[in-house]
Amino acid sequence: MVTHKKLVLGIFGFGVVGEGLYKVLNMTPSLNATLKKVCIKHPDKKRNAPAELFTADRQILLKDNQINVIVELIDDADAAYEIVKEALLSGKSVVSANKKMLAEHLIELLELQKQTGASLLYEAACCASIPVIRNLEEYYDNDLLHSINAVVNGSTNYILTKIFDEKLSFKNALIQAQQLGFAESNPVLDVEGYDALNKWTFLLTHAYGLLPDKEKLCFTGIQSITSEDARQAEKKECVIKLVASAKKLQNGKVAAFVLPQFVKKDDQLAFIKNEYNGVVIESSFADKQFFYGKGAGSLPTASAVLSDISALSYDYRYEYKKLNREESNELTNDFYVKAYIGFTDWDHIRKDDFESIEEWHSNESINYLIGIIHFEKLQTSSWWKENNVSLVLTADPIIESLDIVKLKKRSLVLAGFSGGNHLS
Ligand code: HSE
Repeated sequence: MVTHKKLVLGIFGFGVVGEGLYKVLNMTPSLNATLKKVCIKHPDKKRNAPAELFTADRQILLKDNQINVIVELIDDADAAYEIVKEALLSGKSVVSANKKMLAEHLIELLELQKQTGASLLYEAACCASIPVIRNLEEYYDNDLLHSINAVVNGSTNYILTKIFDEKLSFKNALIQAQQLGFAESNPVLDVEGYDALNKWTFLLTHAYGLLPDKEKLCFTGIQSITSEDARQAEKKECVIKLVASAKKLQNGKVAAFVLPQFVKKDDQLAFIKNEYNGVVIESSFADKQFFYGKGAGSLPTASAVLSDISALSYDYRYEYKKLNREESNELTNDFYVKAYIGFTDWDHIRKDDFESIEEWHSNESINYLIGIIHFEKLQTSSWWKENNVSLVLTADPIIESLDIVKLKKRSLVLAGFSGGNHLS
């Protein structure tokens, strides 16, 4: 019979997730783990736990030889990195939910794990309750991953759901997301896509063995989406979602970004409402699979932390299998996307950036275009992030080569149909 290691825990942080974990631990007596100490920033704040559990001195946890697992659940990514580093260096295993820290320091943290032999797990840091990291590591270790499309930020998905389904204003929907504890303490991180970008950065490591520099990944959030954009989406039988995407192209390279997208109402991603997250994986052998679950909130996030703690009792560690493969993957910006651009002033649109414009409307009530643009051009220009311009990729946005588009256009012309308002 396998005997599981006895775990003694030291937790950093007693916010939404920390307190959730405290409750979950108390409800899981089967777990062979004892909570010894919780380190907090504000010792005077009243807590729903015995006072003797708390300390404001991080060394009390880090220097305690009995504590063999540090659970890091604080907001400050820099402080989190210092704590995780010190914990690993002293041979303790670590569970973290800090996506910003992981996005910024994964390379050093990989090295530290190698050097110390200690394990760092972080299932809660992406898609909270959905076990996506362990599945990408273990289940999809050999199956060839064609694409992975995901809603990874609960707050923006909550806001978009309220705008589409209940016609709530952006501002009121955001206030609700904050009150329910889904949003970051600085909600700009959610709304402008930074949180989703952070999560995508390290998910790409487990999906494709990539260690991307997050500064080089193209992203934006939902800050510029207007009710007119939502109306246009409805007309196209779509909703708008903030989608984190990655696709292995025919040339073997990987396209990856985090951008708003039109999602057909019958697509799995459209099914994801409120603070739920979801991941659609397409692979060679398993074909299409959909993972769905709560992506934010106290207990759902704590459930993933709990699962990581439990995994440490049998010495589980990520092997970063895809990272260690001989044949490595590479990111590329050499492809095209079809994008919807909403605007208030036509002069702010760099129309020459487009390969072709399939549709455009510019009058008093409707101002938008749909066109094909090279991804490198999108990535390196900023006009679409300024001056009330909104960008939403169309459903299934990636076009690998323009030859296919030209061929399609030619066959339409031959069939006697010339399409909408072409500029080029
Ligand atoms: N602010 C995050 C979100 C919390 O809304 O998804 C979970 O990571």
